[in-house]
Amino acid sequence: MICYLDHAATSWPKPPEVAQAMLAALSIAGSVGRGAHAGASEAAQIPSRLRVLAAARFRADSASHVVLTSGGTESLNLAFASWLRSGDHVVTTAAEHNSVLRPLELRRRTGLGDVTIVPVDRTGTVDAAVMLAAIRPETRLVAMTHVSNVTGAIQPIESIGAALRASSVAFLVDAAQSAGELPIDMRQLGIDLLATSGHKGLLGPAGCGLLLVSEKVAEHLEPWKCGGTGTHSESLQMPRELPHRLEAGTPPLPAFAGLAAAMQQSESRSASLAARAELTRRLWAGLQRIEGIRRVGPTDPQRHHGPTSIVITGWDPHDAAAVLDATFDIRVRAGRHCAASIHEHLGTTGSGGTLRIAPGHTTTADEIDRCLQALAELTSF
Ligand SMILES: Cc1ncc(COP(=O)(O)O)c(C=O)c1O
Repeated sequence: MICYLDHAATSWPKPPEVAQAMLAALSIAGSVGRGAHAGASEAAQIPSRLRVLAAARFRADSASHVVLTSGGTESLNLAFASWLRSGDHVVTTAAEHNSVLRPLELRRRTGLGDVTIVPVDRTGTVDAAVMLAAIRPETRLVAMTHVSNVTGAIQPIESIGAALRASSVAFLVDAAQSAGELPIDMRQLGIDLLATSGHKGLLGPAGCGLLLVSEKVAEHLEPWKCGGTGTHSESLQMPRELPHRLEAGTPPLPAFAGLAAAMQQSESRSASLAARAELTRRLWAGLQRIEGIRRVGPTDPQRHHGPTSIVITGWDPHDAAAVLDATFDIRVRAGRHCAASIHEHLGTTGSGGTLRIAPGHTTTADEIDRCLQALAELTSF
């Protein structure tokens, strides 16, 4: 039987309601905003429902401040493209996913002023004071992940959001690893741009994501892609109203229907935070007992959620993952996990990255024990 410990890549299995909602969406005879007939109206209910659910879950200022995207990567690219202007300075961290670092690097090469990448410590955690000290007069954005997809470190977004709340600097949080996993209240945390995928902790299908925007930044976001919106078709310019200003083209209705169904389920389907913390405690304690395994990442379990990364003496992480898969039917991920810089700070560049064990909403204590047993056997080969 599959032991799936790769939830940081994508959650599995999805609640059955997701596939049902996707199939139902495929049979709708119409497209969102394209026509006033019954099918178009029925289709329009899906994104509307999703916006309401997302606004309530993350406490956005209104449902119209929820922009629907194709995924976390698109949400982040959209935020950078529509918020940043030439000459702007951005502060980010070495713990970021390539979907933050690569678009910023492209922009740096093509006219954005400058990007400061704040280092993380040996546990993969950023220091809020160092982050805030990197802000300059021309800084327009602070962009950081909530939870590291490599170490599971929970970054200090509360103190950074509080410090930026009254400033003109926008605060972007990449919640790809935390949305649906940890409570996120945009208003309380002072988040201006909250980007996430739909297929991880929110339990939706691939092909959908969210960007939620605060009142503070909403008016200043410029269109980043142009096309049909189903509204103001007489104009050659994108409509000013949100979310249409930032959305163009026929939306992927089945994916959004799946995400809406998942979001209705995910709160009740997910194990409690206490149960998840207990699984992590069990994993960490077991890893400590296996000779030849070094865990990287936070030492304080209160500042951790989700994935745990390890290095196994004498093993390339890819080989270890292949053996776990082939011999034990355990699915984990190996390598750098699309995070370019963090490994320099974790001391895991030379080892080819890490082996990442990422429990999720369905993980049981038995599965953690099975993984520990397999690792103990593997290290004794
Ligand atoms: C922290 C983080 N940010 C952004 C992304 C990008 O999300 P997606 O690949 O779903 O577009 C991921 C995906 O793994 C991630 O882990």
